[in-house]
Amino acid sequence: MEILVTGGSGYIGSHTVIELINFGYKVVVVDNLCNSKIESLKRVEKLTNSKIPFYKLDVRDKKALKKIFEKHDIYAVIHFAGLKSVSDSIINPTYYYDVNVGGAICIMQLVQEFACKSFIFSSSATVYGNPSKVPIKETFPLCAVNPYGRSKLMVENILQDMLLANTDCKIALLRYFNPVGAHVSGLIGENPKNTPNNLMPYISQVAIGKLDKLKIFGADYNTSDGTGVRDYIHVIDLARGHIKALEYLENNQLLIANLGTGKGYSVLDLIKTFEATTKKKIPYEIVARRKGDVATCYTDTSYAFKKLNWQAKYKLDKMCKDTWRWQKNNPNGY
Ligand code: NAD
Ligand code: UFG
Repeated sequence: MEILVTGGSGYIGSHTVIELINFGYKVVVVDNLCNSKIESLKRVEKLTNSKIPFYKLDVRDKKALKKIFEKHDIYAVIHFAGLKSVSDSIINPTYYYDVNVGGAICIMQLVQEFACKSFIFSSSATVYGNPSKVPIKETFPLCAVNPYGRSKLMVENILQDMLLANTDCKIALLRYFNPVGAHVSGLIGENPKNTPNNLMPYISQVAIGKLDKLKIFGADYNTSDGTGVRDYIHVIDLARGHIKALEYLENNQLLIANLGTGKGYSVLDLIKTFEATTKKKIPYEIVARRKGDVATCYTDTSYAFKKLNWQAKYKLDKMCKDTWRWQKNNPNGY
């Protein structure tokens, strides 16, 4: 029995593959490498001393994907493959829906055809849009405000429809907050293809000297210091949340859970912690707000703790330390 990990050579996927193997699962990876390199999996193999079956294919290519289901005894799918840039999704919405929704549908059809037992989907805190209060509970209204977020919400809805129609496949919708950090070995980490959109990789590229200075998008929010507040979660904690979700689905039909630490940190908090842990100075300037950003976003952790007996254990300084080790060891990524 194997677990199919789509998008398994990407940032969250590669860290989750390590944890899966460490927990004794057999893993098969598919990825079209549009936003990752095969080197990440080579390093995962080295770290886990294992051989990972890998297939370079697009998850929208149902024919190719079907061959994987025929060849392997897939009992669960963790579906990471997808596109994740909010700004690109606004520029090219049909492409985003094609990959994120079309790709998910292809997998779901095969999951049904081959009677797989569980399906775990990478959703996002972005499905809550601009929440009226924090911390965010799973029961809050859903209101995605851009094509990326809507693509996540669509897939969540389709999966729940599938559950109603096919009680055999169990489903987890995991809404990630802000994944950061890297594996403690410094061998794998986040590897943005272009200039990073996200804060942590941007800071670490300033620290290594690839970028001059950070632009802080707005210091006039209604937060403690005026900058945006987010719930940063170490990618290894997040990866372990997937293991807990797999275990939960053994005895339950549906899981909808937020995965975060429950603590909100501002942009300036993150800069200060990064500087203190790495002894690197992060020059910055305050610029206008970025369109679509919310002021504050962090989760209520009680539901995930109650259902999964899971909580994030790593703190912000460890997230910075591990990010920096990866960046320092791999100044140009993979
Ligand atoms: P990533 O880009 O590093 O990984 C995604 C992987 O999917 C990449 O390896 C890419 O090559 C692959 N892929 C993309 N389109 C594909 C296709 N059509 N066929 C096959 N493979 C394809 O991103 P990540 O940060 O690891 O995110 C993984 C998942 O988690 C995504 O679905 C993303 O939307 C979701 N998510 C990420 C964040 C975040 O901040 N990183 C937050 C919330 C949700
Ligand atoms: N920020 C800056 N400068 C930058 C980048 C970010 O000031 O160069 C600020 C943002 O304004 C925000 C905070 O840093 O206040 C975090 O921004 P990120 O881009 O790192 O993360 P977001 O919360 O905006 O979005 C991320 C993912 C989304 C996902 C969301 C919730 O990019 O895809 O988390 O999971 F939907």
